[in-house]
Amino acid sequence: MSRIEDLLERMTLAEKLGQLTMTASGYAVTGPVIAGDSTESIRDGTIGNLLNMIGAGPVHEMQRIAVEQSRLGIPLLIGLDIIHGHRTLFPIPLGETAVFDPATWERTAREAAREAAADGLAMTFAPMLDVSRDLRWGRTAEGPGEDTLIGVLMAHAKVRGFQGDDPSAPDALAACAKHFCAYGPVMGGREYAAVDISERTLREVHLPPFEAAVKAGVETIMPAFTDLNGIPMTMHIPLLRDYLRGDLGWDGVLVSDYNAIGELIKHGVAADLVEAATLSLKAGVDIDMMAGAYRHGLPIALERGLVTIDEIDTCVRRVLRLKERLGLFDDPYRRGRKAEKADAIRQRRELARDVGARSITMLRNQNGALPLDPPPRRLCVLGPLADAAAEMRGPWFAASEPDDPVSVLAGLRDGFPGTGIVHATGAAIDDTDETGIGDAVALCDDADAVILCLGERANMSGEAASRAYPELPGRQEALARAAIARARARGTPVIAILFSGRPLVIPWLADNADAILAAWFPGSQAGHAVADVLAGRVSPGGRTPISWPRALGQVPVFYGQRPSGRPMDPKDPYTSRYLDVANDPLYPFGHGLGYGRFTYANLRLSTDTLRECDVVQIGVDVSNEGEREAEETVFLFTRDKVACVTRPLLELRGFAKIRLDAGRTGTVEMSLAGSELRFLDAGLRGVFEPGDVEVLVGPCADRAQLLGASLRQI
Ligand code: BGC
Repeated sequence: MSRIEDLLERMTLAEKLGQLTMTASGYAVTGPVIAGDSTESIRDGTIGNLLNMIGAGPVHEMQRIAVEQSRLGIPLLIGLDIIHGHRTLFPIPLGETAVFDPATWERTAREAAREAAADGLAMTFAPMLDVSRDLRWGRTAEGPGEDTLIGVLMAHAKVRGFQGDDPSAPDALAACAKHFCAYGPVMGGREYAAVDISERTLREVHLPPFEAAVKAGVETIMPAFTDLNGIPMTMHIPLLRDYLRGDLGWDGVLVSDYNAIGELIKHGVAADLVEAATLSLKAGVDIDMMAGAYRHGLPIALERGLVTIDEIDTCVRRVLRLKERLGLFDDPYRRGRKAEKADAIRQRRELARDVGARSITMLRNQNGALPLDPPPRRLCVLGPLADAAAEMRGPWFAASEPDDPVSVLAGLRDGFPGTGIVHATGAAIDDTDETGIGDAVALCDDADAVILCLGERANMSGEAASRAYPELPGRQEALARAAIARARARGTPVIAILFSGRPLVIPWLADNADAILAAWFPGSQAGHAVADVLAGRVSPGGRTPISWPRALGQVPVFYGQRPSGRPMDPKDPYTSRYLDVANDPLYPFGHGLGYGRFTYANLRLSTDTLRECDVVQIGVDVSNEGEREAEETVFLFTRDKVACVTRPLLELRGFAKIRLDAGRTGTVEMSLAGSELRFLDAGLRGVFEPGDVEVLVGPCADRAQLLGASLRQI
């Protein structure tokens, strides 16, 4: 008999429910503390999984209690939110997405897994794959931005990165695709609010990244907190049981979100924990994180005949199988046994610096304000994010220390050794005090360039961080206006660096700063990454994975909108438009400047007809007409011109990179398979339809900047 079946036969009901329970823990100076419970519960087998432990010592200490002191010796599964690094932080996911490089996405996950596994952990609650088209929603920071294909590629890269080839390896973690599904379109961009979207949008936009995670072999999935079209995801039988387990044949572990099973009561679908636990179990949720609903509710549900022991056993089996696949039965201490070598840590820091710099997205650069090369004699660095190491970590920081990141100021001092740097905060991130602005901007007078470090506090994005005014908070715009006025009087360029977990609404700044860099939250090596870009050692490689609106009223503004029967015509008032703002975003999806200047020519296709089984090769010549070497990201879109249902105005099909010296021309080759052009017809069945499709290639989702060619689907 297998180990798992043998265990199942010997387990009491309480022990079974222990395997379906995950509880938060902490580590106090005096030793481990388990929130709301005690190590006794691990010893008696009624808690089988933990979250939020840090450090190999405490993790092994807990594991020892489970393995050596509990009756059946079943090892614990211990997880943490390792979202974009563990001790060494890479840019936040939205920032890392801007790099548009799946190999990098995989590599940072691999490194995060190594570092976390060296701390004894076996699971991360990542990647987050929620497509977000509403910047009010703070969790936009944690995800892949507005595009589904990017979500798909991210899913694949991150699952592979975290889990590696063999999840039982001592440096691998179980990944957790979250939050399943369609958490991004919460009503009004308000965290935890209900979601009401069409079946088509669900299938076309929100499900594909999760399907990709399943294909990549993701071990666990977390249902979203939210209510989707009237059914909370934590009990969503059609999507959890029928789609994930049925259609996709996925047999991994479903872990509820934090207390989400208990919250079914507030959703108004369960009267008490017994009913809540019943609903989740029926939907196939295996682990109850933090609600205690399974432990306390299921024994009663069983007694009342609401659930069966078989249903419980099915979940226990899945959890034990996961522990087995992670190698925990064979050696529960395999992770965290060896401390990492200094060299590995050093290389990881270098990677964080490299990815940090490449994620920086240059939104504007007038008159070659950047790079600062040769280095200026004097730099004036203003703003509340200049000397704010802890904020550079972003909203999820795992086991990193607040003073670990390199602040912008420290990075600039290091990166511009011969430059005199003066600094003042001028205004706080988020209060109404303007009294520091005058003295601060006076420092601009003697500078050759002014750097404004502006944006959000790290916790103004991420979970529970929706904003109705996603602008520069506090008096930062007043600081920017004063600094720009002062500097302009002397012809001094002003460079604004924005730190945020979302696009910000910055119409004034966009017209008035000489250069704008979206730095997102770059992580541990923030200051060095910023200095590398400012000095011109690295050409900014970021391309925004989400549109930046001109005004909040445009939201949701995203490139993949569907056509209107009355498309915008400036001469005709009865067309789809605003009275007071343009339709297009301030910066479209994919926008980002570098230190090169690229032009596109000679778009060519290997064929002008395409069957579903064919692949068309697409070539385009790209020239760097700028004065510096740089890398360009080339995007490939299609537009299906006439179809049986309306198709988005643009659909991303891929992207490629080309690095070119100044004055050089190169060719970018991409391919497009006919099968990628399938879409859902009126009955939501996948079809490949004959007809014309435009192939569009260029630097971003701005139609005017794309070269087009025609292809006939046959
Ligand atoms: C978040 C999840 C996270 C979990 C565990 C929840 O509040 O929604 O994303 O994984 O907490 O920390």
